[in-house]
Amino acid sequence: MFENFSLWPESASNLSGPIDRLYLFLIGLSVFFGFLIVSALLVFSVRYRRRPGHVASRIEGSLPLELLWTGVPLAIVLFIFVWGTRLYVHARTPPEEGMRFHVTAKQWMWKIQHPTGQSEINELHLPLGQPVVLTMISEDVIHSFFVPAFRAKMDVLPGMYSSLWFTPTKIGVYHLFCAEYCGTKHSEMGGRVVVLDPADYQAWLDGRPAEKNPVEAGALLFQNLRCDTCHTLGTRSTASGAPRGPDLAGRFGGDVTLADGQSVHFDERYVRESLLKPQKRLSAGFQPLMPSYKGQIGESEILSLIAYLKSVKAPGKGR
Ligand code: CUA
Repeated sequence: MFENFSLWPESASNLSGPIDRLYLFLIGLSVFFGFLIVSALLVFSVRYRRRPGHVASRIEGSLPLELLWTGVPLAIVLFIFVWGTRLYVHARTPPEEGMRFHVTAKQWMWKIQHPTGQSEINELHLPLGQPVVLTMISEDVIHSFFVPAFRAKMDVLPGMYSSLWFTPTKIGVYHLFCAEYCGTKHSEMGGRVVVLDPADYQAWLDGRPAEKNPVEAGALLFQNLRCDTCHTLGTRSTASGAPRGPDLAGRFGGDVTLADGQSVHFDERYVRESLLKPQKRLSAGFQPLMPSYKGQIGESEILSLIAYLKSVKAPGKGR
């Protein structure tokens, strides 16, 4: 009767163990103090109950006792603070070498693209033991990507990237949920995460129809959208003459000086904004000529363009 019953979701990622330990500690601490307080309450209410001939004595306070009951809780909460913060920072800092997946959410499905280009809907196949980094965005309302067995959950927002990382540590099939109410079929917006042995993952990838990986897809878009008529990539001029926009090779990860002298980080967010609202934060020294691509390209195309720009290094700077 109880074989399918468990108080705890399965533990299947590098984050689940440490998060469970913190959570258990908090529960244990609450139970301990809960019992302590209730027992003291019961004992005292019997021991010091009103009885004829007994008069309550007057107590004027006790410094050691007050120091004790301030100091001990302070030490406990600071301990929890340090523990929780370290774990949070770890869980929020994606490793450099992670496999980068793109997730786009919309009412009511998850679309996921693998680093090699294959994409799937409401399913995510992963190799065991590899750090996975998800870059996520929504096409409409706020959703939330939640895999309880990985103890991994993050809001997926319209108009802004969020990210999530974990390393699957156990082969199996796990639930994927949307954990933010997003409309009528919110409860159906889920799927499964399938963790495979790396060889089986490769076999699974090989069995999928080949698709361009994000970098290749982005390179093609860069041409098809005619980005290359204004932007150079490490060359001196474009196909149509002198460049009218900033050179984009090796820019990703650096800083951009804006017309008003401020500077902005050239990251996913800036690329996305420049495609949709090119005039908002214009690079210094250029005319506001770039058209908006709003409505012409979807979030997955933007992610591909970002992957492409990330991959184009400045000439003479290695790859
Ligand atoms: Cu998407 Cu709830």
